[in-house]
Amino acid sequence: MRLTSRLSIALILSVALVSMGIAYYQTRAQTESMRRDLERQSLMLGESLARAAEPLVVDGSNDRLQRLVERFKDHESVAGIAAYDGAGKLLAVTPGLAAIANRTPKAVNEALRNGWVRTAFLESPAGPRHIVALPLYDDDGVAGVLAILHDASYIESRTAALWRRALVGVAVQTVIIVAITLLAVRLSVRRPILHMAQWLRDLRAGKALPSAKPAGEFEPLAHEVTQLASSLSEARAAAQQEARLRYSAESTWTMDRLRLFVEERLGGTRLFAVSNREPYEHRRASGGIQMVTPASGLVTALEPVLRSCDGTWVAQGTGDADRETVDEFDRVRVPAEPPQYTLRRVWLSREEERGFYYGFANEGIWPLCHIAHTRPIFRAEDWQAYREVNRKFAEALLDEIAPDASPVVLVQDYHFALLPAMIKEQRPDARVAIFWHIPWPNPEAFGICPWQRELLEGLLGADVAGFHIQAHCNNFLETVDRALESRIEWERFAVNRAGHLTLVRPFAISVSTDCAESAARPAGLPHLERASLLARLGVRATYMGVGVDRIDYTKGIPERFRGIEAFLENCPSYRGRFTFVQVASPSRTLIARYHDLIHEVENEAERINRRFQTANWRPIVLLTRQHSHQEILPLYCAADLCMVTSLHDGMNLVAKEFVAARDDEQGALILSRFAGASYELPDALMVNPYDTGELANAIRRALEMPARERTERMRRMRAVVRERNIYRWAANLIGELCAVRPQSEPPLLQDPAEVA
Ligand code: G6P
Repeated sequence: MRLTSRLSIALILSVALVSMGIAYYQTRAQTESMRRDLERQSLMLGESLARAAEPLVVDGSNDRLQRLVERFKDHESVAGIAAYDGAGKLLAVTPGLAAIANRTPKAVNEALRNGWVRTAFLESPAGPRHIVALPLYDDDGVAGVLAILHDASYIESRTAALWRRALVGVAVQTVIIVAITLLAVRLSVRRPILHMAQWLRDLRAGKALPSAKPAGEFEPLAHEVTQLASSLSEARAAAQQEARLRYSAESTWTMDRLRLFVEERLGGTRLFAVSNREPYEHRRASGGIQMVTPASGLVTALEPVLRSCDGTWVAQGTGDADRETVDEFDRVRVPAEPPQYTLRRVWLSREEERGFYYGFANEGIWPLCHIAHTRPIFRAEDWQAYREVNRKFAEALLDEIAPDASPVVLVQDYHFALLPAMIKEQRPDARVAIFWHIPWPNPEAFGICPWQRELLEGLLGADVAGFHIQAHCNNFLETVDRALESRIEWERFAVNRAGHLTLVRPFAISVSTDCAESAARPAGLPHLERASLLARLGVRATYMGVGVDRIDYTKGIPERFRGIEAFLENCPSYRGRFTFVQVASPSRTLIARYHDLIHEVENEAERINRRFQTANWRPIVLLTRQHSHQEILPLYCAADLCMVTSLHDGMNLVAKEFVAARDDEQGALILSRFAGASYELPDALMVNPYDTGELANAIRRALEMPARERTERMRRMRAVVRERNIYRWAANLIGELCAVRPQSEPPLLQDPAEVA
């Protein structure tokens, strides 16, 4: 039987039962009240008549008594009156009552016996009657009884009428309540259930655009099911990948493989990472507190590693709701669903942030290491802040690693050059690696930093110093060689300084391709066709290019725009047909150079647009706000080409993200030869971003490349990115670090075949 039928029967029975109960009590109450009224009425009449009858009974004036009772026989609903002497003998009676009165009713006998007034209802051949028997007294006691009978049949007929009305009421109430309830159930349960079922079907089928997610009462359920569905699809993807790997006997790194590897290598200790940028910021928004992932290549890379190993990530708390979301130890489990690792936040004052982050790190080291012709600025007070903040982070980290013996610590980037030595000083048993996410320049360039020795000494506290490519390792070793007293062991790329050995190794950072492939079109992500995507951006075009960058002078954004301008100049047939979508997230805007760059980028886009645009088309769509990965993926998937034109870049993960997203094996990558990624992706169209003509030609080549060539290039690039993914990066770095003997013992060099 269906739920609604069962529900209807249960509802009808319960409503009818309750209504009947109520009707029964109401009817009974009314009957009772009618009986009480009749009783009161007969008592009143009886008392006044008894006063008149008493002397007549005592005196034996039976004739007068007979006249008295006859006078009242027609009074209202009186059915008859009778008078008895003290022995119960009938003295006077109204006509028609003799049949009852002759048999001396029970109430009369009781009144005679006890001397009390008695009332009762009795059945007579003429119908139901009410009797009141009032004792009459003389000086010696009860001298007789006066009995008055009332017709009580009207109570029965009225009660029957009341019952009829009540039953009709019960029926009407039942019908109305059942109808309303079933309607409400239909609207509030059945319809959402049908909607939910459709949504689940879509989800199961992995539809790109499942029907809108159920809201209201079903929202928590829908939320849980979404989590379940995405875990299932991840498991399915992992199983497929495992099967593929088994089939092709490849040794690709996956999240699960890394997890097992780390478990085995760490042997019970935990993994710790430190960076300035945190993986999740909590920000206040209109609907409450939101979790936002900041635009950072470092975060993109490190996040999947921490997720796979459930470690602790120490980073600066920068979100405006960050303090509200941590516990008393400044820790919070992230991400929201399901939490996979711990984020420990460190708080910096405005002054500290100005000196450490904006000043020394980003006006000093950043331009020092990137050859992009922006002059580094070194201020003594910034250096001071840099040292203090490194100390602050070291304390937070020491606090976190306190319970662990020989913990494994991965320090990230140029913000923390001093941290490795600070940690080693306190915890010589810790195994510390620093990974430098930006280029390392040649010794002459680095030598202009007034505190180069201190930076190098801090870095050489690490057991492993990692860079993206061998060229950066070589630059680092040469810099150390020139600046410090140390022994460079070129045959094994290591620095030996005061008995401590630092291995210097290239680890090409990457993205998590296993997720990227399934994430490129995850359930729930609107995968828009190029035309509708562009229409949303207010343009109509046949071809589309994409660029995704922080607004940073190292990224070559104005140079890229000028390349697009030259392309439209040289190839007028593409005017009105090619649009370039540039996602540009404002970055480090308190620094004048960055602030000015936003205007420069906007002005360049506007100038070029003004030059070529038509009513429905413009060459550049500039989106200057931070976009989530979910927003960027459809752009990657829909583009004919992606442009990465960094003037200098450690690696550049946008290039790899674009390749990872293209599971259709379409799309061309235009890549700066000054980005680290160019060493791994020779199938990209390589450009010198300073050469505007070369950029223009590359765009044309990308658009006009034979389909087969495009597919082959993309297939090869995808194989590289899949093989050299972020899990391999982490496995190589952690493997190298774990081979280091703690307490400054000489490291066991790892067999490279082990983690290849
Ligand atoms: C580069 C650096 C990262 C940094 C990112 C974003 O990728 O190597 O350390 O997080 O830029 O910059 P931001 O200053 O916003 O953290």
